[in-house]
Amino acid sequence: MERTILRMGNINLYKKASLVKNLNDAAVQDTINKMLEILRKNGPSIGLAAPQINIPLQIVYFHIPKSPPNPRYKLTPEHDPEGVEPTILINPRIEPIDNKQVSDYETCLSLPGMAGIVERNYSIKYSWDSLEGPKSRIAHGFHARVIQHECDHLNGILYPMRIKDMRNFGYQEDIFSKKIQ
Ligand code: NI
Repeated sequence: MERTILRMGNINLYKKASLVKNLNDAAVQDTINKMLEILRKNGPSIGLAAPQINIPLQIVYFHIPKSPPNPRYKLTPEHDPEGVEPTILINPRIEPIDNKQVSDYETCLSLPGMAGIVERNYSIKYSWDSLEGPKSRIAHGFHARVIQHECDHLNGILYPMRIKDMRNFGYQEDIFSKKIQ
């Protein structure tokens, strides 16, 4: 059975994902394989959370490229000059480091063609489980934004639910062309 990416409106995107209790469970590797396969088919993308392919587990994939695949991605090379290697996060947890918030556009495979401005913490510490044991990293800027966006999926939150002014939400074609004019 082929799984595709759920889109906004599908109620399964609004549910909380379950903790992965046994990292050695075959379902975990199976889920990761499906996520990677679907990403390959959907072209370059920054991240994907398991609930987006209808698997209610706390598993996230992301990577940050060294240079933006699309000019609308505002990377923060001052923090991640080499990007961030492809990473699988199991049971991720986030702690803000300070109160600094920044607003920027986000997009999502569950809302194809759409974009919106979301405020996020600029600096976070995040931790997760892996087969090698617990891990953690500090992230700033774009990296921190990606983690917050993906972890929101595990709590049933899509980025439009965090947009403060809905005039900052719309079709990428219109939003990004408006900025150029
Ligand atoms: Ni998303």
